[in-house]
Formats: sequence, C-alpha cells, structure tokens
Amino acid sequence: MGPRVQELESAFSERTGAPHALAVSSGTAALHLALLALGCGPGDEVVLPSLNFVAAANAVVRVGATPVFCDVLGAGDLNVDPADLAAAVGPRTKAFIVLHYAGFACDLAAVTELAAERGIAVIEDAAHGPGATWNGQALGTVGTVGCFSFFSNKNVPIGEGGMVVTSEEDVAERLRLLRSHGMTTLTWQRHQGHASAYDVIEAGFNYRLDEVRAALATLQLSRLADANAARLRHVLRYRELLDGRDGLSFPFDGEARLRTSAHHLAVVLLPHGVSRDGIRETLHGERIQTSVHYPPIHRFTAYAVSGGRRALPHTDDVADRILTLPLFPHMSSGDVDLVVDGLTRAVHAERSMSASN
Ligand SMILES: Cc1ncc(COP(=O)(O)O)c(C=O)c1O
Repeated sequence: MGPRVQELESAFSERTGAPHALAVSSGTAALHLALLALGCGPGDEVVLPSLNFVAAANAVVRVGATPVFCDVLGAGDLNVDPADLAAAVGPRTKAFIVLHYAGFACDLAAVTELAAERGIAVIEDAAHGPGATWNGQALGTVGTVGCFSFFSNKNVPIGEGGMVVTSEEDVAERLRLLRSHGMTTLTWQRHQGHASAYDVIEAGFNYRLDEVRAALATLQLSRLADANAARLRHVLRYRELLDGRDGLSFPFDGEARLRTSAHHLAVVLLPHGVSRDGIRETLHGERIQTSVHYPPIHRFTAYAVSGGRRALPHTDDVADRILTLPLFPHMSSGDVDLVVDGLTRAVHAERSMSASN
C-alpha cells in the first residue's frame, strides 16, 4: 500500500475517469467491499443475472443478503435483460449487480434509469471490462460502484488483484476503511512513522494489494489499449471465418459495440442438438483449450433453492450452447485459423453423429 499502489490507483483513476479508485486483492474482494460499502446485509435482496461468475452471488450471500437471479436477453446478447431485471425487483431490493459480459456493455441506460426510479444501487461487475466504454464512459464508472479483476486471465493480468471505483465520496471512504481492517490510519502512514496509533471503527478485512503486484498492474495497464486492439483483431477473424457457418453464431453485434468492447472472451454459440462436451473433447485432443463462461449460478447445488425460483428461459437456452474459444493478445492469426479448423471439423463430426442417431 505504498507509492506503487498509489501510482496504480492514480493511473486507473485517470484512465477510467473515476474520482476514486482503490486497489484490492481480487475482483471478489472488490464485489464484497462494494456490497458492504452500500450497506447490503440481512433482509436485503440483490438482483443479478445468473449467467455470471459465481463470485458475485457468493459475495451477496456472505454479506447476509439474498441473491435473486434474473435472465439475459438471449443468444444475440448475453447481458442482463432489463425487463426481467425490473420484474425481479421487490420491496427489499437494495442493489443490482450487472455484468458486462465479455467486455460488452450491458444496457446501462435502462439499468440506471430503473435503479434511480426505485432507489436501488448499481454495482457494475466490470471484471471483463477494462478499456471498454459505454456512451464514451469507461465501464465500471456508470453505476454506483464498479468492480474489476486483475486475475491471470483478465485484460490487466497480474496473478491476483482487483480495483473498486466510485464517484461517491462516502462510499469511497467506507471502501477504504473496510479494505484494511476498519483502521483509521493507513498501513503506509504507519510504516512511514506518520501515525503510531489507530482506532478500528468497523470490522473490516485485509483486502489490500501489495507493491509488487501494483507495479505489475501499472505496467499491464499501459499495455491495455494495444492488448485490447489485438483481442479485437482475433475476435473479428473468428467472426469472419465462423459466424453463420455450420449453425454457429456470435452474441453481440454491430460495429460500435465491437469497437467499444474489451473483448475479454471469444464466445461462440453452438447449434442446438450437438454435444458441447463432444466438441470440447475433440478440441482438447488437438491441444486446443476451450472453456464455458459460465455454468449459470442457479444450477449450482449451493444456489438450487427449492421453492420460488424465477424462470430463466434465455439463460437456460444459451447455457448449454456457449463455448469460449482461445483468446489472448499475443496469439497469431495462424493460431486463430488452427482453432477455426479444429472447431469446424469437430462440429461436422458431432452433427453427423447426431444425424445418424
Ligand atoms: C465476471 C467476474 N466477476 C468476478 C470475478 C472475480 O474476480 P477474482 O478472480 O479476481 O476474484 C471474475 C474472475 O474470476 C469474473 O470473471
């Protein structure tokens, strides 16, 4: 929490335009702190799409609040469906957590309008979004609080780390306090001998980022624009070679959306009726790693509540068809072609197998 953390926070603030940027130990820590700083706790509900990484829901549960899952728009747009978000709001709704899937902004106009009408806070899970914009604003800076992850596979990769941003002074103050045990003086002030005593005014955590990873993050941040541009090139090539062929399709369309996304993931939708596991196995045999973002949270044992669960038809429709292809800035166009060839062959094989069954 010395000069390198401060340098990173200033650089992140400058880059995103967020008045307050606080470095934290992970994206999960960012989400946990955001919920606590907004006063979410027992008796409150937090609405979030089920199609997200489980960290958001886990954080809601661990502050004592109840997650309420809402649907996504569908195969053409894997972000939150604003109409279903509105339908999930109840008298106890305290906050929304919205994901910008793969770095594509969700419908922030609709989300923030609904939130303002109903007095609900908006937490942006911007783990996929560094460098992406919506209406010219950095993702993560439109809602009440924005949460970023710097995990190894993210757009600003450092191992473990994250950032939480806000424009609200009082929220920033609570985030700062809770990040380091609720202590009234900072680690660095004490280290320098500027403060020898401290009080603890709220039970907090150690969610600090260290100097070494802060230095890495500042360097990675300086490379972000180039890295995101390379990601875009690869995504465009995937789309050019695969979109509309063999029943494959890509979520998110339009030149402006493609240009403003951070392209954290290259996700393709498989046609109905082919086995995703079979395709993944074939690709694995060719040393091509694929993944799934995400198994929807409502299907996990810990979240499979017995009664009163909301219907999530679009999430259930896309959940078994989404496939994440390899994507990283320094892959070559030859690498992309290799994946395209492998996937095309695997889909053909699966399709002829399902036709003969
Ligand atoms: C969308 C999303 N939210 C939250 C997280 C949690 O971030 P972290 O792994 O840094 O705790 C991740 C990454 O793993 C993520 O992809």
